[in-house]
Amino acid sequence: MTIKDAPSGYGWLSIGLHWFNAVAVVMLWFIGNKMTGADVAPNEAAELLRVHTSVALTVYALIWVRIGWRLYSGHPKGLPDQGRIPFMIARTVHYTLLTTIAVMLVTGPLKVWLGGEAIAFYNLGAIPSPFAVNERLHDLLTNVHRWGGNVLFVVALVHMTAAARQIVFGHGETAKRMTTPTGHG
Ligand code: HEM
Ligand code: HEM
Repeated sequence: MTIKDAPSGYGWLSIGLHWFNAVAVVMLWFIGNKMTGADVAPNEAAELLRVHTSVALTVYALIWVRIGWRLYSGHPKGLPDQGRIPFMIARTVHYTLLTTIAVMLVTGPLKVWLGGEAIAFYNLGAIPSPFAVNERLHDLLTNVHRWGGNVLFVVALVHMTAAARQIVFGHGETAKRMTTPTGHG
């Protein structure tokens, strides 16, 4: 069973974390955008915010595990027929995605707490703020969370388009890396 990564590709751990995270992050992005939309009634927005923070907290630790695992395990080398520049672009896109996701995970909870709110977790309760209210920092983090969401959208779109292009117009070798493990032990 190939659990870990190897220079030639990803193992099951990376593949599992990739797909789990892709679904979770896309879901959080859609809920986040929906709840802040101009056409949403205030009570619906409040309910969606509870869903956003509850789902975010549910997957929170696993997203950090994924980021930590990539930093620990490193990035596999490019495929033999992948040019140096395309590989460097792909790797930069991957690390940009991970960095942006980390920014979202840090700014989300901090922004809630510095605004003096508690973080709602389903109907089970809420995690109260350990910090004093700081309106300026709260506003700054709100903006960073918003712009982080926009950057994430653009970079994830580039990433998914590149994967789709590779499947449609190439041999799908790169795409296969995220379905078939080529790591070791
Ligand atoms: C990868 C994880 C996350 C993603 C992709 C994400 C995505 C988003 C997006 C797209 C928005 C809409 C921003 C806007 O247009 O104004 C948003 C808003 C928000 N998010 Fe997240 N989020 C994440 C994690 C979190 C976490 C962990 C929390 C807190 C526990 C959080 C709390 C909030 C709050 C309170 C808002 C409302 C912002 C406002 O009122 O302007 N988010 N999020
Ligand atoms: C249909 C959607 C997606 C497809 C087909 C896809 C496909 C792939 C493939 C084939 C790779 C390996 C590329 C290589 O090493 O050369 C990869 C890596 C990666 N993908 Fe995706 N991906 C998708 C969605 C996402 C989303 C939504 C995110 C994050 C928001 C994401 C983040 C990453 C990251 C960070 C890597 C680097 C390896 C890792 O740390 O897991 N992907 N993806």
